[in-house]
Formats: sequence, C-alpha cells, structure tokens
Amino acid sequence: MSTDHVQRARQHFADANPASRAHYDEARRYLPGGHTRTVLTHAPFPLEFVGGQGAMLTDADGHEYIDLLGDYTAGLLGHSERRVIDAVTAALHTNVSVGGIHPAEARLARLMCERFGLDRVRFTNSGTEANLMAITTAMMATGRDRLVVFNGGYHGGVLYFATGAAPWNVPYHFVLAPYNDLAASVAVIREHGPSLAAVIVEPMLGSGGCLPGADGFLAGVFAAAREVGALCIADEVMTSRHGRQGLAHLMGATADITTFGKYIGGGFSFGAFGGRADLLDQFDTSPEAGRTRVISHAGTFNNNIATMTAGGVVLGEVFTADVAESHTARGDEFRAHVASVLARHRVPMSVSGFGSMMAIHALADVPSTVDQVLARDHDLNELLYLGLLRRGVYTAARGMVTLGLALSDEHLATALGALDDALGEIDELV
Ligand SMILES: Cc1ncc(COP(=O)(O)O)c(C=O)c1O
Repeated sequence: MSTDHVQRARQHFADANPASRAHYDEARRYLPGGHTRTVLTHAPFPLEFVGGQGAMLTDADGHEYIDLLGDYTAGLLGHSERRVIDAVTAALHTNVSVGGIHPAEARLARLMCERFGLDRVRFTNSGTEANLMAITTAMMATGRDRLVVFNGGYHGGVLYFATGAAPWNVPYHFVLAPYNDLAASVAVIREHGPSLAAVIVEPMLGSGGCLPGADGFLAGVFAAAREVGALCIADEVMTSRHGRQGLAHLMGATADITTFGKYIGGGFSFGAFGGRADLLDQFDTSPEAGRTRVISHAGTFNNNIATMTAGGVVLGEVFTADVAESHTARGDEFRAHVASVLARHRVPMSVSGFGSMMAIHALADVPSTVDQVLARDHDLNELLYLGLLRRGVYTAARGMVTLGLALSDEHLATALGALDDALGEIDELV
C-alpha cells in the first residue's frame, strides 16, 4: 500500500475537521501531545468530541458518528443511560466525597460477588490499580515475587506487554510467556515454579488485537500454575462483559483472583479485584478477624459515591446476566456479518474477537498471536479507519470495535454498509 494514499486520506480528514485541529493545537500547549491517554491519538490529530446521545457521538465540527468503539469497552451503556444518570445525580445531591463508608459500596460488592462467583471483592480507581493490587495480594499470600505474563498482554499503563515488557513498567520480576502456545507457556511456568507468585492473563487479549485464548489455553495455564503453587489471576477488565459470568467462566477456567474495570463503573473511574476469601481476607482489618498481619489498601476515591452508585445500577438493573448473555450472542452475530462483508472485497482483511469485542486486521487470515497482528498492513488499517470516519462510523484507530447496548439494529446495518463502502474504495487502490 502506497503511503501517498494514506497522506491523501489524512489531508482529507484534516480539511474536514478544522475545529478539532484548532482544539488540538491549543491543547498541545498544556498537554504533551494534546492528550492524557495515548491510545486516543493518531495522525494527523484526533477528533475532539463535544456531545453524545445514545449510540451517537458529535465532534467539534458538527459531524455525527455511530459509536462502534464504546470507549474500548468502558462505554458499554452508550452516552445517555438514564437509569445511571438519574441514580448518580440523586446520590450527588445526598453526599459528595463522603470520607466514610456508605451503602452503595457494599451493595455493589454484593452484586459483584453474586454475579462473578467471588467470595470477596475490593474496589480501586482503575483496571491498572486493580491488577497492581491483585499482584500484591498474590505476592503477599505466597511470599514469592515472580510473575508470568504474556506477550501481547495489557494489564494497564505500567503493566504493558504489547511487544515484550515496556521500559516504563513497574519494576516487578516479570517473566514473559507466549500467548496461545500452551506447551511453551507451561514450560515457562515450570521453569520459574518455585519463585512464581502468580500468572496474570487475559482470557482474550484485548489491546493485543481481540485474540481469544485458544481452546484449553486458559485452563491449561491455570493448571500449570497451580502445580507449582502459584496463584491464577484472570484479568477480566474488558472481558467480564461476556456471558453471564465473564469469559474465563465460559472457557471453563476458574481464577483465584479476578480483576475488573471499564463498563461496571457506568462511565466513572472504576476497578476491582476479587476472588478467594483466604486471599482477599489478607485485607480484613476487623477485630473479629483478629489478624496479626493485614495488607493496607489505600485509595481516596476507591469508594467514591458516583462510581459505587453507578456500578450498582449497571449490574443490578441495566447489564444483568440475561442482558450480558444476549449481548454476547448479538456480538457474535455482528462479527459474522463483518466477516462476510470483508470476504466480499479484494483487500485482505480479517476480523478476530469474541462476543461484543472484535478487531479488524489488514491480514488475509484471522490472527491468533500478537506477532501476526503486528505484521498487518498498518497503512491499510489506517485507510479503513479514516474511511469509516468519513462515513460517520467511529472505531479505534487500531481497528478495535466494541458494541454497546444503545446500538440499534439499524445502527449496525448502517455501520456494515459504511464498512462495505469504505472497503470498496480501498479495493480500487490495492
Ligand atoms: C485487559 C485490561 N486490563 C487492564 C486495563 C487497565 O484499565 P484502566 O485503563 O482502567 O487502568 C485495561 C485497559 O484497557 C485492559 O484492557
């Protein structure tokens, strides 16, 4: 693919978005790169969004988009879910920054334990923090310090393994294993067995390209970890939306600790880690527990009223287990439609994923490893991204799509039409 085509598409984008450009230029005076979330930026500059209703987004230049990104799974509810907005508004009229315990916190904890089969749960401000605390829990319980992570895995800004371990990661003793290669992963786990505190793994690589764990991979990794006395941490920050109880459960694997984030906070900052009582009770400060050694867990906003209230409505009323189950099926169906649109075109494209999370790759075959994802034609992926924007469909620049509850069948049909049209245009170039 010639970069001339990409340059022309970028120029077209820049010409169509002068107000976003002006915002970006102003923002860059104060924010390095004009942002505080690296994933949201791309060349020549990202759009500035000024409004959202249901499944639609509006940018600073007045363009409207069908939101197929769903804020990388955090925006599952769409942009104006009344039940959450009303409950949070009412709670904010009651008390803000409580500085104490309040009922919404225990309610959300109960809902999470019942829904995801946890004995106990604790809240944090983000998925990153949830994973850091899950790791702490495992290291304290085992007295060991090594952690098996997977190539292509992402567990937060400082737990980043897209192409090996990033230099800005927290300085823990990480050992990398190849995702979706069970035999090689088991060998790594055994090699480091005596000093291994935990394995931490996504049931499906999310940021790594929506690559589901192969049949038996997750369960096999967990079994090997248990053999050497290490704990199993499932990072379900993105994937707890699948099925009635999350993706690990659908894959027949049970973690000792599971981490959560994203949509459960209803759009507010959220993270949680939960699981076995004997592990989580290391945090139990109650006199009744009589523990001589307790892990202290701080976080001013861990139990903030907006998130705790929103989360209670999300799990209790909006995204019940029944809704989660049917949303997963709807996502599978949509992904199949995407695959058949891709198959109609000359340009080599494939779609990977599970349920309502997927990614479109400029690759002829559906990838199963991050190395395959990284080898895709980046120019083609960019052309598709910009082509979809031009047709009023918002996805991730890297090709990720996550479906939200506010998307109607008509939205999805329109988005498929836009995909078909954008690919038709690219067909002419390859
Ligand atoms: C699997 C996974 N774990 C952890 C995180 C980090 O969550 P947060 O961005 O809330 O810190 C993410 C975020 O994308 C994620 O996809």
